[in-house]
Amino acid sequence: MNIVLMGLPGAGKGTQADRITEAVHIPHISTGDMFRQAVKEETPLGREAKSYLDEGQLVPDRVTIGIVQDRLAKDDCAKGFMLDGFPRTVPQAEALDEMLKEMGKELDHVIYIEVAEGELLKRLTGRRICQDCGATYHVVFNPPKKDGICDRCGGQLYQREDDTEETVAKRLAVNLEKTRTLVGYYEKQGNLRTIDGEQPIGNVTDSILGLLGSTA
Ligand code: AP5
Ligand code: ZN
Repeated sequence: MNIVLMGLPGAGKGTQADRITEAVHIPHISTGDMFRQAVKEETPLGREAKSYLDEGQLVPDRVTIGIVQDRLAKDDCAKGFMLDGFPRTVPQAEALDEMLKEMGKELDHVIYIEVAEGELLKRLTGRRICQDCGATYHVVFNPPKKDGICDRCGGQLYQREDDTEETVAKRLAVNLEKTRTLVGYYEKQGNLRTIDGEQPIGNVTDSILGLLGSTA
């Protein structure tokens, strides 16, 4: 199953992609995670991407398309994949269509998690992430049992550097129009499915699994 998961910053892409890929056993490919890892390791890609992430801007298409192309060529994608946060622009969507065509594949589902803009600032500024296993929490909507500690592995929770109020505002501004355009692109292709992302986390997962024809 080849899936694209779309949504504005904070819509719940990462949260849902973790849960869905665990249920349907396909790799979770997050361009945001790949960039953050490269920044942490100070690779050439990380050095190029850092200023864009810090500013809440999009990394140039050329770079982003390149890393996705390399990732989709790996063996574990043969059985399918879930792309989280890619594509974000029409040139990225066109490049993805082209890549898949060359690989003899196509997209089975494009899922758009819809959340009103007003909700997203609260979600992003309250987000906390486990430094060891990457699990995502929210101080109000999905708190860990013990303050600041991951339920899953006992790791410390931290706040992403781009989750400050100022950078979140920039990220939303950058993504709003682009996401609207991309929704139009996939609507025209006829494979866009919209999910109400303002339900509790487990209900959003169930809605997506229902759409994929699977159960957790
Ligand atoms: P990326 O990491 O993809 O960031 P983003 O798109 O801004 O999305 P987020 O990861 O912030 O949000 P999410 O939708 O995954 O929400 P989450 O599940 O965590 O990208 C980072 C940067 O990398 C970009 O700014 C850009 O610079 C670069 N980049 C990445 N891809 C790129 C591309 N294709 N092209 C160019 N540049 C690119 O949930 C958020 C919070 O809400 C959590 O606390 C969670 O617990 C909570 N929550 C989730 N669901 C619910 C719910 N149903 N109810 C209540 N709370 C909920
Ligand atoms: Zn953890």
